[in-house]
Amino acid sequence: MKILDQIAHGSSAISYAGLIEKIEILRSTLRWAVSLERPDIEKLLRQSHALRDEVMQLSHKERFVTAAAAEPTRTDQSPGVRRRALLDRSFVFEGAFGDNASLLEALEIAEKAAPTDMPVLIDGESGTGKELVAKVIHANGSRADKPYISVNCGAIPDDLLESELFGHRKGAFTGATGDRKGKFESADGGTIFLDEIGELPLSGQVKLLRVLESQEIQRVGSDATIAVDARIVAATNRNLRRLCEEGKFREDLFYRLSVIHVTLPPLRDRKDEIPLLFEYFGDEAAEALKRRPISMTRQLREFLLNYPYPGNIRELRNIIYRLSCLAGDSADLEHLPRDIRPAAVPEVAGSDGASVPGPSSLSDAKRAASDEAERVFLERGLRAVNGTVVELARRCEMNRSHLQTLLKKHGLRSKDFRNRTSSGSEERT
Ligand SMILES: Nc1ncnc2c1ncn2[C@@H]1O[C@H](COP(=O)(O)OP(=O)(O)OP(=O)(O)O)[C@@H](O)[C@H]1O
Ligand SMILES: [Mg+2]
Repeated sequence: MKILDQIAHGSSAISYAGLIEKIEILRSTLRWAVSLERPDIEKLLRQSHALRDEVMQLSHKERFVTAAAAEPTRTDQSPGVRRRALLDRSFVFEGAFGDNASLLEALEIAEKAAPTDMPVLIDGESGTGKELVAKVIHANGSRADKPYISVNCGAIPDDLLESELFGHRKGAFTGATGDRKGKFESADGGTIFLDEIGELPLSGQVKLLRVLESQEIQRVGSDATIAVDARIVAATNRNLRRLCEEGKFREDLFYRLSVIHVTLPPLRDRKDEIPLLFEYFGDEAAEALKRRPISMTRQLREFLLNYPYPGNIRELRNIIYRLSCLAGDSADLEHLPRDIRPAAVPEVAGSDGASVPGPSSLSDAKRAASDEAERVFLERGLRAVNGTVVELARRCEMNRSHLQTLLKKHGLRSKDFRNRTSSGSEERT
């Protein structure tokens, strides 16, 4: 947070953050070193002397910077004023935000980080808006008109990772029928979004670290190095610090990626934003469905204001879309998905009293019941295996691609089931 306070207060901030990054890298180099030979020791000494000089220069500069200290910190201002100020500065944000102090803090950090080239790490539970904020950082920065390339590190098989990120040369491996650019090259000049970075295997972490240090890549099967200038934004719903302690994530990479660290609060910690999101998604759904925005009965509103939203904003969005699709003018508890609906509420019915047509024949009724059983089964299964489709396929002795088809049919996304149990607030850094 200190780095960010400094960023907020003037141009020397970037060097402060750079300095801290160097100190952290030095620290983790030492921590990971198996043994230290004389040349290593000399290198470390040279680095620490250079650091000392930089610290002295900064402290000298600091003595002449008085204006910044007089400027009030943003957090002294009321949330309403801070929100207004963000909007007045034409902060580009493809969503809605209100006066919640922790969200404002995250957005102000994103805004400050956007015009720099510093790496940003965004964490937060599933569905809290990490990808949205990554796009916000890109859109508010100087690279906005350059490519934004998103990579889901959790979805790439280990053996394809290097080729996916860095590209390959024709013939580098079976199936490499031509030269191919990797994501880093595609993002040159722009931003690369490394989503689910916590899922990157250790071998991939080493390769990524090398690229971040040298700012150049080598395509698989090629000796030539290619310079790349891609701004890194990474996201995770895991606690990377804890993964570092467990030896599953390299600490040096963590420090490289988290020069600026943005944590998005779960929806249960920004409940004051819920009414605003009702309106935002209500309007969005109405437009998509070409209908009038729904209104909610008092009991439904009450229920939704107090519901814990384990899937955060994504879950709220899905609920509002569902209500907008199923309800007449006014939505009620009975339009809620069955798994969250209060037990005493009957099956779905139009709010105007007319029942939504039920199955017209016995075979339709059977099919509907079987579909529902299938959905519940898959949801439970995904929850039990923490969203790992391969594992679920193994447990059910089912072909993986058939399982994927079924998941698609029910609109279930495996990533929505990852870390649900371990994503409580104690998981956050
Ligand atoms: N403040 C917001 N206003 C409007 N929509 C939002 C807001 N925050 C998130 N959303 C929407 O919620 C959904 C989930 O957001 P996003 O995909 O960014 O979450 P995430 O944190 O990346 O989730 P995951 O960890 O599952 O990948 C998206 O449809 C996104 O547009
Ligand atoms: Mg995401």
